[in-house]
Amino acid sequence: MEYAVSGKAAAKLKVDCLVVALGKGAKDLPVTLPDATRALINEYVKDGDFSGKKHQTLLLQRPPAMSAKRLLLVGTGVEGELNVQAFLQLAATVTRGVSATGAASAALLLDNLAVKGQDAPWLVRESARAVADTLYRFDEYRSEKPPASRLKQWTLLSTATPAAAKKALNEGLAIAAGMALAKDLGNRPPNDCYPTYLTGVAKALASQYPSLKVKVISEQQAEKMGMGAFCAVARGSERDGQIIVMEYHGAKGDPVALVGKGITFDTGGISLKPGANMDEMKYDMGGAASVFGTVKTVCELGLPIHLVAVIAAAENMPDGRASRPGDIVTTLSKQTVEILNTDAEGRLVLCDALTYVQQKYKPHTVVDIATLTGACVVALGSHAQAVYANDAELAQALLEAGDECGDRGWPMPLWDDYQEQLDSPFADMANIGGPKGGSITAACFLSRYTKDVSWAHLDIAGTAWISGGKQKGATGRPVPMLSRYLINLAGKPA
Ligand code: BES
Ligand code: MN
Ligand code: ZN
Repeated sequence: MEYAVSGKAAAKLKVDCLVVALGKGAKDLPVTLPDATRALINEYVKDGDFSGKKHQTLLLQRPPAMSAKRLLLVGTGVEGELNVQAFLQLAATVTRGVSATGAASAALLLDNLAVKGQDAPWLVRESARAVADTLYRFDEYRSEKPPASRLKQWTLLSTATPAAAKKALNEGLAIAAGMALAKDLGNRPPNDCYPTYLTGVAKALASQYPSLKVKVISEQQAEKMGMGAFCAVARGSERDGQIIVMEYHGAKGDPVALVGKGITFDTGGISLKPGANMDEMKYDMGGAASVFGTVKTVCELGLPIHLVAVIAAAENMPDGRASRPGDIVTTLSKQTVEILNTDAEGRLVLCDALTYVQQKYKPHTVVDIATLTGACVVALGSHAQAVYANDAELAQALLEAGDECGDRGWPMPLWDDYQEQLDSPFADMANIGGPKGGSITAACFLSRYTKDVSWAHLDIAGTAWISGGKQKGATGRPVPMLSRYLINLAGKPA
């Protein structure tokens, strides 16, 4: 699909389908539409065919005095201002509506839309991203592919200056491309998506983008280096564990680091999970997927930042060599951990990756991303990711980045009061903190490996994929939040 921005008059645009979003009572009918078309729309409103209620659509054939073949009216349900979430839902409805008409070319009029606190370039960026994201499909494993959308050309009619509009479009599409990669990786079945497969993904990215360098630490090397916690998890699988490092050098100075949990399948290990819905534990590499996606976005945009991305990839399996509840391992940081539950494996692979990236790359900031705890889903459901940080400014930057693009987080406490739940009678700490505050104690565990750096942890267990039913699938989150955070960082004076 081709995307474009244009400042042309809506009436002059030759497209199969022009989309106009209208609030209740259609009081905000754009003045840029021809009088005859506006009169027609007013009649539909008067006759009760279209009220402008949320997500209502009405398709008009051959709108008068216009070059477009069809006019699709979509209700925004509100008079005046939309918020970010409502706008993104509207853009998805628009995309599905246009697709259903069989149109090959479409345009969306943005002039009459106002999203609270956001400007014209924001509308371009987020609508481009939402359209591309809504059209995402994962059909690789079907022998008969469902018919593809006929859409070939999508134009956004905007009042933004051409330069600002172009930049916004690029950003929106680059973020959508990152989300698509994250979704592809998440949706790929675990018999095909395993740690060394992820290494291949990193290498493919590096050959596509020369500014990206890849380094891989095999399980055997990790063992030698002293990554006892990572190896305790990786050992239980026939498939080799991998620490994958991608370095993007778009600026001088200390890097910002992203660290992703890449458990390509989580059976729980010897602390085996119950069978129901265990298939969804293929998404336990969602943190890694979002790191890959964000790296892709950063490379696409050529951001002037120095970024190091580390993926801790392993499969958590029960096996003769798997770790047992009661095992004590020594982490790369030299702190010892009593593994009381082998299903709390995410923090075990992450702690060594976190230590490694700090020792080797001296980052000024580290953000880890993980589908870490079921408790996080209980606490926040599937709308917000949990945001933990040892630095209030970093937490704020991530939360604001999420708010800006509808990929929202919510702050959670990292108080010392929770730390004692990790006490072990035999080792420096246990890998579980009991039934209370499970997402918080998991974050507290990680905080013990990130004491000397500005660090944040995103628990994305509720947001990385849609669970169950026909809608099951990866969401591509939090690629938008992370990309926004890095774009904002790139724009900040040093
Ligand atoms: N990958 C899971 C967390 C998870 C579970 C995410 C369900 C999304 C949905 C993680 O490895 C895990 O198993 N965590 C345990 C921790 C517990 C043993 C302390 C959990 O949440 O039950
Ligand atoms: Mn687990
Ligand atoms: Zn897990």
